[in-house]
Amino acid sequence: MLVLGIETSCDETGLAVYDTERGLLARALHSQVAMHEAYGGVVPELASRDHIRRVVPLARRVLGEAGASPADLDGIAYTEGPGLAGALLVGASVAASLAYARGIPAIGVHHLEGHLLSPLLAARPPAFPFVALLVSGGHTQLMRVAGVGRYRLLGETLDDAAGEAFDKTAQLLGLGYPGGPAIARLAESGAEGRFRLPRPMHASGDLDFSFSGLKTAVRDLVRGEILDAQTKADIARALQSAIVDVLVAKAAAAVRATGLARLVVAGGVGANRHLRSRLDAEAARCGFEVFYPELELCTDNGAMIAFAGALRLASARDRGSATGGAVAAEGPGPHAFTVRPRWDLAALAPAAELA
Ligand code: KG4
Ligand code: ZN
Repeated sequence: MLVLGIETSCDETGLAVYDTERGLLARALHSQVAMHEAYGGVVPELASRDHIRRVVPLARRVLGEAGASPADLDGIAYTEGPGLAGALLVGASVAASLAYARGIPAIGVHHLEGHLLSPLLAARPPAFPFVALLVSGGHTQLMRVAGVGRYRLLGETLDDAAGEAFDKTAQLLGLGYPGGPAIARLAESGAEGRFRLPRPMHASGDLDFSFSGLKTAVRDLVRGEILDAQTKADIARALQSAIVDVLVAKAAAAVRATGLARLVVAGGVGANRHLRSRLDAEAARCGFEVFYPELELCTDNGAMIAFAGALRLASARDRGSATGGAVAAEGPGPHAFTVRPRWDLAALAPAAELA
């Protein structure tokens, strides 16, 4: 089953072609980071307009690289949510139009399900069930994952996401957007221990997080002063250590609480090298295994959407449903499509129940 995946939920236009027998055949990504940088964050209207410019040429490119034409496709997967409404509409409308023209299903994919399942694309994929630590710019969640669509929320952030804490602190330090990679780079030359930031909810006894206090703590440190390069690096180091300490402690606690032996890390913050090495050390100490997507598939991309959509379409096909809950079967009319800027992952139906 050959599936085109389209990701346009935020500031990257990601396209990919996935085949259920042959694996990932092609992928392409256009990042809008340079365009949004001047504004210190994503400008939704600019994001939508740029997706419109990029999506069709990138679709042509991945199909060409996969040696396929639109006529070879069995389905199209697009990010239905959560994300920026206008940006989501670009991917959804292109997917629905192409699917209509070809007479194939278009399936809306939950962006976080894409992230969650992306480690299954790695050379060494984890088996179900596992604990997933989902750490992106908009979400910080621990989930118990029993299968495709079988997600139970174990804990989540009560305020800012981990990526948001990186991004907001980077802004305070004048490091631009996105902040995670900039903080991580700077932290390498920072001195451990010069600044000590709080570890919010570290010992709260549950699996929830809170990161909004960190940016306040950094603001108190900075106090509007112009900082020298070493001080900035030391603060970056302190911030990274605080976030990573909490993520590692809670992820390990989730593994203990569920009695599972596998932890999967997904989402943009999962690209952080310090987080990875700390998790690897904790896993070795406690006797569980950690799985990561390859670095390029940590941040937003089309491959994870093509993959999650293909799994759902294939599962529906195996159960005798032509569309797998795809848009052709839903909505007010046969060709209607929808986007969901806000969408709870735990509310997703298991793949097997879609038929
Ligand atoms: O998953 P993602 O690409 O987009 C969302 O769905 O949010 O995650 C983006 C987030 C941003 O907050 C970015 O600062 C953070 O991931 N990020 C990192 C790193 N690379 C990206 N945070 C820490 N260290 C990194 N190396
Ligand atoms: Zn994402």
